[in-house]
Amino acid sequence: MITKDQVLEIGSFVKDYLKESAASSDQEWVQSFPRAADHHWQHTLNVLANAEKILEGEGASEEQASVVRAAALLHDVSMFTCDHSIHGRVSSEIAEEYLRKHGYPDAFVQKVSKAVAEHGTDLGPIPPDEQGELFSWEGKVLLEADILDKLGASAVTNALLYLGKQGCLSHEVSRDLAAGSAFERADFFRDYIWTTTGRKLAEERFSFFLAFLARLKEEVVDVEIPTVG
Ligand SMILES: [Fe+2]
Ligand SMILES: [Fe+2]
Repeated sequence: MITKDQVLEIGSFVKDYLKESAASSDQEWVQSFPRAADHHWQHTLNVLANAEKILEGEGASEEQASVVRAAALLHDVSMFTCDHSIHGRVSSEIAEEYLRKHGYPDAFVQKVSKAVAEHGTDLGPIPPDEQGELFSWEGKVLLEADILDKLGASAVTNALLYLGKQGCLSHEVSRDLAAGSAFERADFFRDYIWTTTGRKLAEERFSFFLAFLARLKEEVVDVEIPTVG
């Protein structure tokens, strides 16, 4: 079992790693993303909080909870250092190195790094039920906690922040949210939830997303501004 101090230590390592790797990244998307490291640290904390809800709802053991907490903190640590398609594997390597260096038991290190690697799996090719059978329990909880951050008010907020940066008007936001990547992502990922608690949370969050879209459509006039001349 990991202590609260160890959770804080791992968190501090991840926060610093994100900050330093974002500052030195030569990837264009990182450089053009204001406060990229802070946004990703916020996401990491959201995932940890989501994981806590699932752990409690599912009656996880302290051992399982410890693995999931460490994995939640470390899952996206490599976000600014590599291509997104391999960030699960690279994060799992960084997690393994950190945990070994700090003397964590071998079985614990292996479970954390496995869960972190699993969260980076390309989810398209295998149907959700079959995919779930391939994952460790801790890997499933981590992935669910990660996906929950793409489904509800947090997902809507992130989409609004992004669209605001593009200078979108409210009717354009309404259209984009309904047909754009935030909705597509939420609609796709909500099937990759396996625990009872995760499912309940996912349904609540996605319902909020849909209700927000419906309300926005009702309140915002879809009109193009006429050009002069
Ligand atoms: Fe990730
Ligand atoms: Fe993530």
